Amino acid sequence: MENPTLYERLGGRESIAAVVDSFYGRVLDDDRLAHFFEGTDMQRQRAHQTQFLSSIAGGPVEYTGGDMESVHADLDISSGEFDAIATHLDRTLREFDVDDTAREDVVDAFYGYEDAIVTAA
Ligand code: HEM
Repeated sequence: MENPTLYERLGGRESIAAVVDSFYGRVLDDDRLAHFFEGTDMQRQRAHQTQFLSSIAGGPVEYTGGDMESVHADLDISSGEFDAIATHLDRTLREFDVDDTAREDVVDAFYGYEDAIVTAA
């Protein structure tokens, strides 16, 4: 494929959904992070994260959730917690043998939202 989008380099919607599934498995196994998701419908969360990642990777997918700043506004997320989430994403992409450039591009795209999401001093 000539000039594939990041979405295509990640293997499209099915692969991204599988990555998101495994990613939230890791997040919920992490005591630093699991408490944030106690009241969260994880099926909806996985669906929205799959849409979100697909759309920021240039895929033909509409994200139907809330904007990053509003949905995280009351969560009091620190930069250490943000890094912990990003590290889980990175490890998941390694587990799925995503190539290094695509993996780095996704993690960089995540970091593009850090300022909107991190609100703890
Ligand atoms: C770039 C990093 C992140 C992205 C792209 C992201 C993405 C998302 C998305 C798409 C949703 C769903 C919104 C909706 O359903 O309307 C969401 C909700 C949520 N995020 Fe994040 N998130 C990120 C970082 C974090 C971090 C670092 C934490 C906690 C440490 C976190 C905790 C949550 C929680 C608890 C919810 C659910 C809120 C609820 O129950 O409605 N997120 N996030």
